[in-house]
Amino acid sequence: MNFQDLKIETQKLVENKTASRDETLLAICQLLNRNIAHYNWVGFYFANHDTQTLHLGPYVGAETDHTVIPFGKGICGQVAVSNANFVVPDVAAQDNYIACSITVKSEIVVPLFANGKNIGQIDIDSHVIDAFTEEDERFLEFVNSEVAKLY
Ligand code: SME
Repeated sequence: MNFQDLKIETQKLVENKTASRDETLLAICQLLNRNIAHYNWVGFYFANHDTQTLHLGPYVGAETDHTVIPFGKGICGQVAVSNANFVVPDVAAQDNYIACSITVKSEIVVPLFANGKNIGQIDIDSHVIDAFTEEDERFLEFVNSEVAKLY
């Protein structure tokens, strides 16, 4: 399935009012993980602005110990503060990086804005080095704009 078809499938999942929000988020993770070869781990983190921490939400892929990440720590924590996409072509070259698995070679994190606020992010890990392009950024921005409709 190409990005255009995946956008339509994402919209359909968001429009399915019989699913809970977490069910929809998990279904989106599964859709992306199954259909995009370089998306090996797909998950959402959500911000708690009072405690300045990110909390793991629905995800697909290897289990991770990093269910709570302080703002500023790792790629995810930096995006919680910067409000900007973060594409990491080679995780081994990053100082402020939280390793989940040695199989991960590259990563992309795109912030999730709802009602004008950075409420979390979508995080994708790849087993391939330099896996992510601007096309992934635009696609994941679209996915997040759809997810924002659930808030
Ligand atoms: N690598 C991330 C941590 C989350 S895992 O990839 C699931 C980071 O540096 O923030």
